[in-house]
Amino acid sequence: MAADDWAAGSRQRLEEFLSSVLASRLPQGHRGDRRLADGMSYALLGGGKRIRALLAMAAGQAVSAPPDYALVAGAALESIHAFSLVHDDMPCMDDDDLRRGRPTVHVAFGEAQALLVGDALQTLGFELIADMDAPEDIRVRLIGILARGTGALGMAGGQAIDIDALGQTMTQAELEAMHAMKTGALISAAVAMGAACGRPSSAVSAALDRFAARIGLAFQVVDDVLDVSADAATLGKTPGKDAAANKPTFVGLLGVDGAQRYARRLHEEALEALAPLEDTAAELRRLAAALVERTH
Ligand code: IPE
Ligand code: IPE
Ligand code: MG
Ligand code: MG
Ligand code: MG
Repeated sequence: MAADDWAAGSRQRLEEFLSSVLASRLPQGHRGDRRLADGMSYALLGGGKRIRALLAMAAGQAVSAPPDYALVAGAALESIHAFSLVHDDMPCMDDDDLRRGRPTVHVAFGEAQALLVGDALQTLGFELIADMDAPEDIRVRLIGILARGTGALGMAGGQAIDIDALGQTMTQAELEAMHAMKTGALISAAVAMGAACGRPSSAVSAALDRFAARIGLAFQVVDDVLDVSADAATLGKTPGKDAAANKPTFVGLLGVDGAQRYARRLHEEALEALAPLEDTAAELRRLAAALVERTH
C-alpha cells in the first residue's frame, strides 16, 4: 500500500484506538476469560492492512464527517473483520494455520477459544458503535449497515456459499455474487459507514455505493490472484489454499492474466463512479489503487 501521510497517520490513530479499546473493555480476572481476552488481542492487534478502517475514514473525509466518528466505525469494522478471519481459518472452514505471518488463533489458543474469540470480536464491533459519542440516529444507521454487511446477506452468507461450493464450478455471475457477499459486503459497509458518519446527499451516497461495490469485488479477485502468485512470507498466509481445496475462484475461471485484467477494469469503473466527488475523494482514489496493486 502506498505510504502516503494520510494513510500512515490514520493507521496509527486506529492502532492506538484499538489498543485502548482492548485495554479498557476486556476481562482482566479469571484465567479462562483472561485467555479469551488474550486471544482477542492476538487476533485484533496482529497486523493486517486495515483496508476496511481506512476506507471508512477516507469515505468519512469525502463527505466531511467528523474524523472521530469514522475512526470508531473503522475500529468496529476491523473487529468484525478479525472475527471473520478467525472463523474462516478454523479447521471446519478453510483449515489454515498461518495468518498475518503468525499461527492462526485456533492453533495458538485452541478451537473452542477461537470460536469464542470470533464471537466476542463480533459483539465488540457493535459495542463500540453503540457507545460512541455521536448522535443517536448516526449510531443506529451505522449499526444497521454493519449488521447487514456481516450477516446472512453479507459476509456470513457469502462464506456459506463458499463452503458449499467446494469442488463445484461456478459461472462468472455466481462467482461475482459470492465474492460480492463474502468480501465485498464488508468493504461496501466500510464505505457506507464512513459516509453515514456525515450527512451526504443521496447522489453522493449512490456514487460511493457504486465505487464500493466495484472495489469490494476487485479486492477478492486480487485475493484469488495472490493465492496462486505470492509466497507465504509476503502473503503472511499459506498460498495455494484455494486450488488445494478445489475452490471456484476468478483465477480458475479467467486465469491469472484474465483475473488481473478484470481487477483493473473494476478499478477503472470504481474511479468512474467517484467522478461526482472531486477533491474530497482523493484518499479514496489512492486507497482504491493501493488495494488493486497490493502484493499481500
Ligand atoms: C483477507 O482480508 C480476507 C479477505 C476478505 C480476502 P485482508 O486481505 O484485508 O486481510 P488483512 O486484514 O490485511 O490481514
Ligand atoms: C474471504 O475469503 C474470507 C472472509 C470473508 C473472512 P478467503 O478465505 O479467500 O480469505 P483468506 O484468503 O483466507 O484471507
Ligand atoms: Mg475462506
Ligand atoms: Mg480463507
Ligand atoms: Mg483467499
